Amino acid sequence: MLVLVRTVTGLEQLAAEELAAAQHRVIDLSRRQLVIEPHDATVVTSPPRLADDLFLIHDAVPDPGHTRQALADAVPAIQLTGEPADFAVTASFQGRRNFNRYDIEDLVGERLRELTGGRYHSRREGVTPPVDRVDWRVVLDGKTLWVGRRPFAVPLHRREWRRHTVTGSLHPPVAAAIARLGRLAPGLQVLDPFCGAGTLLLEAHAVEPGATYRGIDRQPAAIAAARANTPYGAEIAWQEGDARQVRGSVDRILTNPPWDVRLGIGPLGPYLRQWRRVLRPDGLLVAIVNHEQAERIGGDAAWQILDEYDVAVAGQHPRILVAGLRQRGVTKVR
Ligand SMILES: C[S@@+](CC[C@H](N)C(=O)[O-])C[C@H]1O[C@@H](n2cnc3c(N)ncnc32)[C@H](O)[C@@H]1O
Repeated sequence: MLVLVRTVTGLEQLAAEELAAAQHRVIDLSRRQLVIEPHDATVVTSPPRLADDLFLIHDAVPDPGHTRQALADAVPAIQLTGEPADFAVTASFQGRRNFNRYDIEDLVGERLRELTGGRYHSRREGVTPPVDRVDWRVVLDGKTLWVGRRPFAVPLHRREWRRHTVTGSLHPPVAAAIARLGRLAPGLQVLDPFCGAGTLLLEAHAVEPGATYRGIDRQPAAIAAARANTPYGAEIAWQEGDARQVRGSVDRILTNPPWDVRLGIGPLGPYLRQWRRVLRPDGLLVAIVNHEQAERIGGDAAWQILDEYDVAVAGQHPRILVAGLRQRGVTKVR
């Protein structure tokens, strides 16, 4: 069976690397989406953290193209089996069409009702389907109309640990990508000086519990949220403090400063100077920043940009930067 993996715009390649590292075979990659041939059931029992969501593909037919009539003609070709459960359908498409997502959902919903005998709950009128339902996903990617079923009760990006958020809390799959770019290893000391509700370090800890983690935020409510989000047994030091006055030395800084949208921090210079002092010479900074902040870091002679990814998240278009410290013209990363 093939699997449809949905991810965040800009993270497709990193998600492909995560899947390949778990021995799954990526057979197609397009905007926000990967189709894979899973190596084994671990794709469900230990799903990719960079995925927004994941669906087992039950059928695929050629993408019918632009018109609603072509869509209506294509849908009867869908063949699959399933139990007669309450179900909902979520659809999306690439490119220009003369129909909308609800047209796809209702046409496919009706076809699935015929095939499974289940009860279809349309989202067209904004009515929330019952909680205890099966979720089908349809994607028209320009080549193929994929029909998949979510093997989980809730979307994959919803983390069990996440009970609290703060203003600007990061989407967990994006945090997982930052953790991955941080090349974490046991024994490394990792700092998030703008930790908020802890998303970055909690995702990092989930993939590398052997590193040492410290999160700092100036808001007591953020520290309380991070503490409350921390799973039992995970040792992460959460401290109230100022990101401009960090002490000690660390191997990694993984962070998400405010992007001056809902929260502001003013010029990045004082923070960068402080981080330069605490980051070990062979350390790494991985930060998700707005474009002005990215230019500030890129233009700072102390830092060398090693990698960058433009992503689309929460209606914003920030950039993930991976940077090291320049040392007499050489950047060494362990
Ligand atoms: C974008 S949010 C971080 C969200 C976090 N990644 C999460 O997922 O919850 C930025 C955080 O920086 C904190 N902050 C702003 N200025 C700060 C400063 N000078 N020192 C420490 N924290 C600061 C804010 O309180 C806020 O929680």
